[in-house]
Amino acid sequence: MDLLDEIRTFLPCPTPAGWINAATDDLATLLIDHAHCEKKAASTAMNLMFRYVDQPDLLNRMSRIAREELIHFEQVLGLMKERGIQYGHLTPSRYALGLRQHVRTHEPARLVDTLIIGAFIEARSCERFAALEPHLEDEALARYYRSLFKAEGRHYRDYLELAEAAAEEPIADRIAFFAAAEAELIQSHDTEFRFHSGVPSGVVAG
Ligand SMILES: [Fe+2]
Ligand SMILES: [Fe+2]
Repeated sequence: MDLLDEIRTFLPCPTPAGWINAATDDLATLLIDHAHCEKKAASTAMNLMFRYVDQPDLLNRMSRIAREELIHFEQVLGLMKERGIQYGHLTPSRYALGLRQHVRTHEPARLVDTLIIGAFIEARSCERFAALEPHLEDEALARYYRSLFKAEGRHYRDYLELAEAAAEEPIADRIAFFAAAEAELIQSHDTEFRFHSGVPSGVVAG
C-alpha cells in the first residue's frame, strides 16, 4: 500500500470539499495557521522528550521530528514572506484540544493516547496536503505541499509505531475511539477556518 492509501485507510473520512474551498479562498490564514501548527508539532515532540526520558527510541524519533518541524516552520515563514503575508497570533482550532480532552491520565495509557493523537494529526495533515495540492494555483506552494506530504507521512508512522510499542495491549480499540472523535471534528461545522478545522460556518459542507 502506498503512503497516501495507508493514510486514507487510517483516517475515518476524507476532507470535505467545503474545507478545500475555504482554504483556497484564504491562503493567508492557511499559511499563518500552518506555521503555528509546525511550531506546535515541534513543541509536542519536545514535551514528550522531557516527559519520557527513559525511552531511547522515543527520544531519538521525537528529537528528529522536532528538528524537522522547526525546519518546516522556517520554510512556511519563508513562503509567507515571499507572498507578503505577515505572521501573527491566531486563535487555535478546536481540533487538537478536541482530541486531547480524551487522553487518559494513567501511564502508559496517557502516552499511548498522546501518540495515537500525534498519528492522527500527522495523518490528517498529509491527507490535507494531498487534497489541497491539485486545487492550488500557486505552483510553488503546491510543490512544497507535495514535499511535506512525505515528511509528515514518516511522522505519522513514527507516532503509530511508538504507540504500538508503548501499549501493553492491542491499540485497535483506542484508534477506533479517536477515529470517531476525529471524524466529528472534521465533518462538523466549525466557527473558524484553520488548517485542521471542520468546514467553517457559512460554507456548504460537501
Ligand atoms: Fe511538519
Ligand atoms: Fe509532522
